[in-house]
Amino acid sequence: MAGIELTDIHKSYGPTRVVQGLSLSIGQGEFLALLGPSGCGKTTTLRMIAGLEVPDSGTIAIDGRVVHGPGARVPPERRGLGMVFQSYAVWPHRTVAKNVEYPLRLMGLRRAEATARVREALGWVRMEALAERMPHALSGGQLQRVALARALVGRPRVLLLDEPLSNLDAALKEELRAEIAALRSRLGTTMVYVTHDQGEAMALADRIAVMDSGRLEQVDSPERLYSEPATPFVAGFVGGANLLGGESGAGCFFASGAKFELPPELSGAEGPGTLVVRPEDLEVGVGQGGTPLTLSARLFLGSSAEYRFPLGDRLLRAIGPPLEARPGETLPVRVRKGRLFRGSFPATKPGR
Ligand SMILES: Nc1ncnc2c1ncn2[C@@H]1O[C@H](COP(=O)(O)OP(=O)(O)OP(=O)(O)O)[C@@H](O)[C@H]1O
Ligand SMILES: [Mg+2]
Repeated sequence: MAGIELTDIHKSYGPTRVVQGLSLSIGQGEFLALLGPSGCGKTTTLRMIAGLEVPDSGTIAIDGRVVHGPGARVPPERRGLGMVFQSYAVWPHRTVAKNVEYPLRLMGLRRAEATARVREALGWVRMEALAERMPHALSGGQLQRVALARALVGRPRVLLLDEPLSNLDAALKEELRAEIAALRSRLGTTMVYVTHDQGEAMALADRIAVMDSGRLEQVDSPERLYSEPATPFVAGFVGGANLLGGESGAGCFFASGAKFELPPELSGAEGPGTLVVRPEDLEVGVGQGGTPLTLSARLFLGSSAEYRFPLGDRLLRAIGPPLEARPGETLPVRVRKGRLFRGSFPATKPGR
């Protein structure tokens, strides 16, 4: 039985089609990251699972029970969910403990039991010592912990998180990320985690669902998404790859007036396509041959450097050992490894 099962969900706001035929099965206890660019429909999808937004069509089941579908309309508070938003949504006039206790009051729990549960939930997020603090005297990370404890205190079977770390600085993000991962393995809660940060999705998730314009592009493990992207969009979004539209022939790829020699495994390709190359697979300024390109910027990264080359209407990014090179110089660039997708660029998607 799936933890969450979405079947052919459609949702529009007026003429704007926000979610278009989304089907997705999330296992019980699975940690699924929903990843995609701004406006692709992530929050809308999460809110439909929660029951805060009503799909135009399709069915939603949680732990085998249909909560939305023909003849079924279970309200949010009876779906057995916890939810954490980007804006902490912590009540300013209640102490930390009272904030966390609130859902238990709604559930009608007796005081003594509620107090014990609140203490336990604050322990999960390491906030016991601050139970009597008021929210204005807490840091962003502490507020986010309160929100997390409040979402977990009712021991939901499913936890929905919408960009819960995006308001935090890098160090706090790391720390809470680790905390969420630990909580997840401890509590066995099914988690859906919305983010547009691919690093966060990679670090946390069992599987990542990559979404673009209201549709799923690929649902896979982080490893497979990275090594075997199903579409140029996934390669660009998840691996930060360069996408070049052009034509293959005679062992080369022609794009925006430049000619790139293809690595042996791709050299048999013919016809129009999209060449996908990660920045670290573009070799700059070494060896024989290579395509001469004009450097527009060099960013020193410590043990490596990023090189940027304008090509047509895009910027080619390469990452490699730091070289002495200045903007305006012409450097040879070689494709060491890449993937070719057939068809014109941008790749057309079925049904669009
Ligand atoms: N209540 C609404 N009325 C009209 N349009 C809406 C409404 N809510 C969302 N939209 C539109 O639906 C689209 C998807 O919005 P959604 O909030 O789901 O995106 P998102 O993937 O969460 O983006 P972000 O990463 O920026 O949070 C956007 O184009 C948005 O403008
Ligand atoms: Mg959103």
